[in-house]
Amino acid sequence: MLNNSPTIPDLIDSRIMYALGDLHTALPSKVVAYDHTRQCVDIQPLLRKEYSNKYVVEMPVVKGVPLVFQGSSTSLISFPIKQDDIVLAIFCEKSLDKWVNSDGSFVTPASGVMFDLSDCFAIPGLQTFRTHENPNPDNLEVRFNTNTAQECSVKMYQNGNITLNSPKDITVNASDNVTVNTTTATINASSDVKVDTPDTRFTGNVNINGGLSVDGTTSSTGSIDTSGAITTQGINLTSHTHTGDSGGTTSGPQ
Ligand SMILES: [Fe+2]
Repeated sequence: MLNNSPTIPDLIDSRIMYALGDLHTALPSKVVAYDHTRQCVDIQPLLRKEYSNKYVVEMPVVKGVPLVFQGSSTSLISFPIKQDDIVLAIFCEKSLDKWVNSDGSFVTPASGVMFDLSDCFAIPGLQTFRTHENPNPDNLEVRFNTNTAQECSVKMYQNGNITLNSPKDITVNASDNVTVNTTTATINASSDVKVDTPDTRFTGNVNINGGLSVDGTTSSTGSIDTSGAITTQGINLTSHTHTGDSGGTTSGPQ
């Protein structure tokens, strides 16, 4: 006669498995709503729950989940969060309710629940092998608007080069000073360059391949040497003549 009664180890294993069924640790989840003011999201775990009888259900939406950005008390790296973004939900071992509404210091949890579905943080950036954004395999890269006409980025290369890329404008705001220290510098502007300041000073020689137009007064403490003509008020400095004392005109300057 077979004894179908479960053994004590069987009962213990069964109880453990039952308890583990409601113990949450980490789950990929999608964003269903984003509250920018509170910096939290409503998320839905993407791994369905399958019961022992093969009945499968989708996990419920978890509301008010704090977002985890890289930062500190003085720093922050943040980025927009969109609906359907994937996040990694990390489930806390104690109730989070009191802490997430506190100033971040010590609290005594409001209840004794552990690893509950409602007590989690959301870390953005999780992707699958098929949906990832092709991180640069060689260089440090910060990218925004990926694969759009507005894609812009900062790239730091293995050889030490750094590039800023923008399809539109790049603005540098500094209240005091901007200094560029380098050996050579090149500005390639297909239309024009404007230096908007009351005073511009070049401490070395200035070579101009094109023409020079000056609206104000021009002065020089050095000599002026030109192989071309100098004309003032219609009179050519090198070819003009004068009316002679005895009539007629003089020859040109010598
Ligand atoms: Fe003259």
